[in-house]
Amino acid sequence: MSGAHWTAYVVGKLSEWTEEDSKCKARVTNSSRIYFQELAWATHLNIGVVTAKPDLRAYLNFARLMSQGLNSTGALHFWVDIPMVAPKLPTVVANTLSPGEEPWEVWNTIRTMCEGNRRLGVLLRMPDKLPKEDIIQRWKAEPIRGLVVPTTAFTASKDLIPKLSKEYAKAFLGLITADTRIIISGSSIYPNGHEPFLGALRSLWQSLPPPTEDVTVGIPYRDFLQAPLQPLMDNLQSQTYEVFEKDPVKYSQYQKAIYTALTTKYKDEKSVCVVVVGAGRGPLVRCALRASQEAKKDLRLYAVEKNPNAIVTLRNAEKEEWKGRVKVIQSDMRQWEPDEKADILVSELLGSFGDNELSPECLDGAQHSIKTSGISIPKDSTSYLQPVAAPKVWGDLQSQHTIKAFETPYVVLLHRFCPLAQSEACFKFVHPNHEKPLDNTREKLIRFQPAKIDSILHGFAGYFESTLYEEVNISIRPKTFSKGMFSWFPIFFPLCIPLKINKGQTVEMKIWRRNDESKVWYEWCVIKPSLTPIHNSNGRSYHIGLR
Ligand SMILES: C[S@@+](CC[C@H](N)C(=O)[O-])C[C@H]1O[C@@H](n2cnc3c(N)ncnc32)[C@H](O)[C@@H]1O
Repeated sequence: MSGAHWTAYVVGKLSEWTEEDSKCKARVTNSSRIYFQELAWATHLNIGVVTAKPDLRAYLNFARLMSQGLNSTGALHFWVDIPMVAPKLPTVVANTLSPGEEPWEVWNTIRTMCEGNRRLGVLLRMPDKLPKEDIIQRWKAEPIRGLVVPTTAFTASKDLIPKLSKEYAKAFLGLITADTRIIISGSSIYPNGHEPFLGALRSLWQSLPPPTEDVTVGIPYRDFLQAPLQPLMDNLQSQTYEVFEKDPVKYSQYQKAIYTALTTKYKDEKSVCVVVVGAGRGPLVRCALRASQEAKKDLRLYAVEKNPNAIVTLRNAEKEEWKGRVKVIQSDMRQWEPDEKADILVSELLGSFGDNELSPECLDGAQHSIKTSGISIPKDSTSYLQPVAAPKVWGDLQSQHTIKAFETPYVVLLHRFCPLAQSEACFKFVHPNHEKPLDNTREKLIRFQPAKIDSILHGFAGYFESTLYEEVNISIRPKTFSKGMFSWFPIFFPLCIPLKINKGQTVEMKIWRRNDESKVWYEWCVIKPSLTPIHNSNGRSYHIGLR
C-alpha cells in the first residue's frame, strides 16, 4: 500500500491488553513502553488515526499517556474507544481513583486532562438497546469520529434483510456526520459477512429526504464561529444583503404585519405614512408595497438608509422600479428630520440576541419620526439564553489562546452541542419606547431548570423572539422557531473555563447590558453551581460601537 493509502484508509489499533493503570508498577512501566513503541510504528507508517481503549474503572494514567502522545506527535489523531453504555460487570472492583462509572464521564475526564485537544475524538460503541434520550443527546455534542453498531441491534425482516428499529435508526442518524466512520461489530449469519448490515445503514442514509433550503444554507456554517455584525460602524456588503433577501419567512412575516396594521389600526385611513428605516437594498420597502396593494391602501412611503453603497441600489429602484412611489433618503435614522411623521415605522435591525446590533439605540434615536399615535414594526424584541455543552466550538476558542476569544459573543450555528436546560427570557425592549429617561442598560439574574444529566457547561446559546405586530412574530428561539427562516443563527456567550454540572444542579448566571456614550457591551458570569469571573468586564474584549 502507498503511504497516502495508509494515511487515508488505515485506522491503527493500540493494544488493548496493556494495563496503564495497574497497581503493579512493572505492568504500568511495560504498558507505557508498549504504547510508545506502537505510536512510533504508527508514525513510521504515516497512519492518520489510532484507537485506544481505556479501562472504565481506572484510566488516569491512560489519560496522561494520551496527553503525552498527542503532544509528542504532530498530526496523529487519537480515538478513545468507549461504549455509550457501561457494560455490566459481574463485580466491579472499586478503584478509588475512578471519578465515575458512566462512560461519558470517563471520556470527559480524558478529554479534560488532554486540554480538549482537537486531535482527540471518540470511537463510540452503540449498545444493543438504546439508553435514555438524554444520554444519546449528550453524546451528540461530542466529536464522534467512528461509530460502532453491533449486529445484535438489528432485526431481520421477512426477506432476511437486517434492519434497525425506528428509534435506533433515528439515534444512529443523529450521531453521525458525512465523515463519521461506521463499523459493524459482532457475528453475522450472512454468507457475505457484515455486508448486509453495512448495506442496511447505507440505505438508511440514502433514504433521508434532501435537506430543506434553510438546512442547506446552514450546512457550511455548522459550528463555525463568526464575529457578530457591526451594522453601525461598518457598511454591509451587497452579498450580505443578498443572503438576507433570500429568506423565505422573514419578509412574508413583515408583509403580514404591515398588512394587519393597515387593515386594522389604519382601516379607516385613506392613506398611511410608512417609513422604512435601515432599508438596505429595499426588501422591506417591497413588503410595504405588496401589503398596501393587498390591503388596497395608499401609502406615503419613505426609505431611510445610512449605507452610501446600499443607497445606490435604492436610488436605482426608486427610479426604475418604484417610479415615484417611494422617497429614498440617505441619512442616519437618528439624525433624520422628516417633513412628515410616520404612522408606521418599519425596521429590521435585530441581531441574533435581539438587541446586539443596537436596534434599541437606533429605534430610540428614530422614534422622533413617529406620530404620537404611530407604531413601530417590530413592536418588541426579547432575548433568551440557554446553558449548553458545546465542546467543539469551545475547543476552537481555546485554540486562539487569548482571553478575548472567551469574552466575545459569537454568531454560530450550533450543531454539535447539547442543551442543559430550556432557554429563559433575558432582556426585553419595546418600541416606541415611552420610558423617561430612555435607558437601554439592563441586568438579569437567570436561574435555569435543574440539569437532567451530568454534563459540562461551555457557555450560553442566545436567541431572540420579536413581535412584529399583534400576533405576527419572528423567532429563532428553539421552542417558537419560525420554521424555514435562516437570516439568523444563534449567538454563543462562552465561558473561560468549562464547568462540571451534576444532574439536578441549577445553573444561575448573571448578565449585564452596559453602555457609555460611544459603545454598548455585555458582561456575564456564572453564579451557581460555581462562581466564575465576570467575562468582558467593562467591555475590555468586545463592544458594539454606537458610531
Ligand atoms: C440588518 S440590515 C436590514 C436591511 C434590510 N431592511 C433587509 O431586510 O435586507 C440593517 C440595515 O440598517 C442600516 N442601518 C443600521 N443602523 C442605521 C442607522 N442608524 N441609520 C440608518 N440605517 C441604519 C444598515 O446599514 C443596514 O442596511
